[in-house]
Amino acid sequence: MFLAALLLASSAVASVRAAFPEGVIATGTQGATNPPVATMGTVIDQTSIARLISVNSIDDFCVYAPAEPNTKVSDVEGEVVAWCTMPRNNARVIPDGVITGVTFLKTDFYVQIMGWGDFTKLTVANGDSGGELDPHGATGVGNPVGGNVTTTVADGLDEPIEEWMMYMSASQFCLRACTNANSTYAAKYMCWHELDVMGCEFVMPGTYHEPGTFESCDADVAYPPGWYPTATVNGQVQFSTFAQYFEGVYTGGNGLPTAYTVGTTVTPDAPYTIPSSSNCVTTSTIGNGIDASLLTAGAKGSTPLPGFTSTPATAASAPGSSATGSAPVTAGGSPSGSLSTQKITSSSAKSTPSSAGSGSASASGSGSNTTGSSAAFRGASIAYGHGGEYAGITIVSIVSALAAIALLH
Ligand SMILES: *[C@@H]1O[C@H](CO)[C@@H](O)[C@H](O)[C@H]1NC(C)=O
Ligand SMILES: *[C@@H]1O[C@H](CO)[C@@H](O)[C@H](O)[C@H]1NC(C)=O
Ligand SMILES: *[C@@H]1O[C@H](CO)[C@@H](O)[C@H](O)[C@H]1NC(C)=O
Repeated sequence: MFLAALLLASSAVASVRAAFPEGVIATGTQGATNPPVATMGTVIDQTSIARLISVNSIDDFCVYAPAEPNTKVSDVEGEVVAWCTMPRNNARVIPDGVITGVTFLKTDFYVQIMGWGDFTKLTVANGDSGGELDPHGATGVGNPVGGNVTTTVADGLDEPIEEWMMYMSASQFCLRACTNANSTYAAKYMCWHELDVMGCEFVMPGTYHEPGTFESCDADVAYPPGWYPTATVNGQVQFSTFAQYFEGVYTGGNGLPTAYTVGTTVTPDAPYTIPSSSNCVTTSTIGNGIDASLLTAGAKGSTPLPGFTSTPATAASAPGSSATGSAPVTAGGSPSGSLSTQKITSSSAKSTPSSAGSGSASASGSGSNTTGSSAAFRGASIAYGHGGEYAGITIVSIVSALAAIALLH
């Protein structure tokens, strides 16, 4: 009887969640500052340090921004907090008017959102060319630490997504959460997180608009960031991969500074293709209708505001239990050793930000806050090392070659 009940229960649960390929659904616990699941209708707390972001629709999504005012994102990648368009996830709420344009894309492999806003009205320093967030970071526990992402787009439930990446600057952001995979495109490659001076339009290609457009579309699937098809062999597409180039110096085991380089000197100008959008629905703006006086810096409510209760059921099955177990990526010309570079922290890198980007790469990474193709933008500051053993490394310079086109190794 008990056993039968158990069996029943587990089969009922198993039918709740669609089968997701391996590496798509996050199997760990939520970050320490997060609620246990994505929750709509939480109490306003503009001092929150919750780091659970949801990306569900054109008007129900979150971004990461610093906890303290007037802060460069790249200085606090480990500590940024969630800011949501709706009162959800115990996160801070983005006041209406801050977001000035959004493109929300649903594809077979990821959900992607690209947007504009005046994020100095949150906490981002004026002119900041931005930083890159992902679930890996210096120590493997995420940038921000304990940062988590959910989406309802994959199956209507709040699914915790293992691989995602976000760029955030004073004026622009882009975010991709990888909701699917196959044996060619593992989620970790479709959300590849180590091209962070290349900018939104390179890493997350799609139809970008100037501020003022609010649209929600289906879109074709991009090639994974930095992948270029080269040939088809026995029906299998072969790829070359681009690794962001930089040089640096680290203090070796002998205590002496040692130079290193990583990546490819010839930097491609553009992704191989820009995926098309379709079925676009536009709206004039987005908003939550919450009075701005309730959302000032440091404001706290005492009870949830009425009217924010809609929330899909949370997926009930054990994460990963229904994974189909697709094989690891072994696609032709699969990502080379260069993909093993690991992000590290570097205080000096923070102080030598976009001076690194050269030529067009720094078109707006130079501190200008004008819009353009830039923004979360080529030339933004980064800090990488080749392998975790270089933590604490000093990045001397980041050389991003101007070069033309995709002459890749
Ligand atoms: C939350 O993020 C941490 C750090 O990246 C990760 O280990 C964990 O699996 C995530 N948990 C969920 C539920 O997404
Ligand atoms: C994986 O999906 C991509 C995009 O739809 C497709 O081009 C590729 O052929 C698929 N790979 C396999 C092995 O089915
Ligand atoms: C750019 O910076 C200037 C000077 O700080 C400011 O007046 C202006 O509003 C900013 N523009 C944008 C689009 O952020």
